[in-house]
Amino acid sequence: MLTQDQLKHQAAQAALQFVLPFLDTDAVLGVGTGSTVDLFIDALAEHRRGFRGAASSSERSSQRLREAGIKVLDLNDVRSMTLYVDGADELDADLNMIKGGGGALTREKIVASVAERFVCIVDESKRVDRLGAFPLPVEVIPLAREAVARVLRQFGGHPVLRESFVTDNGCQILDVSGLILDQPAEFEAMVNNIPGVVCCGLFAISGADIALVAGQGGVQQIRRGTA
Ligand code: 5RP
Repeated sequence: MLTQDQLKHQAAQAALQFVLPFLDTDAVLGVGTGSTVDLFIDALAEHRRGFRGAASSSERSSQRLREAGIKVLDLNDVRSMTLYVDGADELDADLNMIKGGGGALTREKIVASVAERFVCIVDESKRVDRLGAFPLPVEVIPLAREAVARVLRQFGGHPVLRESFVTDNGCQILDVSGLILDQPAEFEAMVNNIPGVVCCGLFAISGADIALVAGQGGVQQIRRGTA
């Protein structure tokens, strides 16, 4: 029986095999954040001379990329990006996701938006039939925290401030449990529309295009629209 860490390692290796054919000296890779992505960065290190560099979704990943000898590019200097690789906290059959367990959701959504395709790498514990057991992270401007929390309660949620945590953007995170996320794209738009919300951790308006899900029987590749 493989452990979760071993499965994350398999997902990271599968991601490396997936991205390699897309790498050339002009290629910029979008890189997400989290323990699965850390393993992917480690695997990518030996190919660092085979591509231009990476656009990173967090200070944490930028540091790890630099330690791996991979050039970190300012997203403003990136005109095109074929692939963005990132983990998720929950992934449903339509490749909608909850992200932001590591607090990098806003930059993740920004970097992903520049890429042509989002490749989600997870171990099978992240696969769910229905999103919402994992509390939805919502990044808020500190001044608006309580105002946003009141609206989220009206939506049926139970927001809890992530203690002693400041995002790379100088903001705070409310982790919201108890939400019914049957219509994730509509809910994402509704939360993003609350004044003071920087970004919510639902990735459904634009979810993953490809998922590499590592399980006991190997790594399954799922493409959006094939469920
Ligand atoms: C960070 C994220 C991560 O992708 C998510 O939390 C999964 O992390 P891990 O690979 O450590 O399980 O959204 O903001």
